[in-house]
Amino acid sequence: MKKNRINKDETSRGAKNARAGLLPRHIGIIMDGNGRWAKKRLLPRSAGHRFGMDRMMGLLRHALDAGVSYVTVYALSTENFKRPKEELEGLFNLIRKYFVPCMHEIAERKARVRVLGDLSLFPADVRELLIEAQKESEAYEGRGVNVALGYGSRAEIVRAANIAVKEGRELTEESLSSLLYTAGQPDPDLIIRTGKELRLSNFLLWQSAYAELYFSEKLFPDFSDRDLDEALKEYAGRKRRFGKTDEQMENPSAEKEEKNTKEKGADE
Ligand code: FPP
Repeated sequence: MKKNRINKDETSRGAKNARAGLLPRHIGIIMDGNGRWAKKRLLPRSAGHRFGMDRMMGLLRHALDAGVSYVTVYALSTENFKRPKEELEGLFNLIRKYFVPCMHEIAERKARVRVLGDLSLFPADVRELLIEAQKESEAYEGRGVNVALGYGSRAEIVRAANIAVKEGRELTEESLSSLLYTAGQPDPDLIIRTGKELRLSNFLLWQSAYAELYFSEKLFPDFSDRDLDEALKEYAGRKRRFGKTDEQMENPSAEKEEKNTKEKGADE
């Protein structure tokens, strides 16, 4: 698989854009359409996943080089475990063959690799590989790649709630976030879905409360770096208000002043 060096100029430009809110700090990608891509070429679905894996790595390199701090890719949902055994075995073989070297490349870029999901769903040898692939980069902070495998957002939220129940603590929005697989990471600013479908399919539901959504008609193996740039360009032009008014967003210091005056008034 092709290796790209980090382009330092681009990364610092990316960091500047991220600070200005023009670049998402965290992108989620729903990689849909591998099966249809393969079918169009009279290839087995597994070939679509193989090409999808290459594209996934290309996009991860491209996003990190552009200065995006976190990328979460949806590789296999809990529901996908109902797929035919042959297709699942093909995906497990992809992990067996390519996952560790691919994630080694991510670690070389000083990004932390995390696998999000229920590893108990995987055969023991695959589970070991997934655990292994995370070790090399576990000390890195501030940049990361999450690979959602055996992942379902509702299951993730229930798991977090059960941890809190066991510990006898009441949940707040912050404490629930801290019990999710994505603890400590910024929420996704942008969710991209390829393959024409217009839904989230149980992906990062809690974390994406204020994410911008971007849908592409392209099947995942055809979604190029240029297509990602297009999505980033569209994101940069979106107006995000987080429930506030345009005026509040444009003049946050006035809002702060107003809050301070009110607090002062209440103290007096
Ligand atoms: C959805 O497309 C895609 C998947 C279920 C698998 C995604 C996997 C990769 C991109 C490869 C990376 C894999 C690993 C294991 C890290 P689909 O098969 O549902 O396509 P369709 O909607 O056209 O049938």
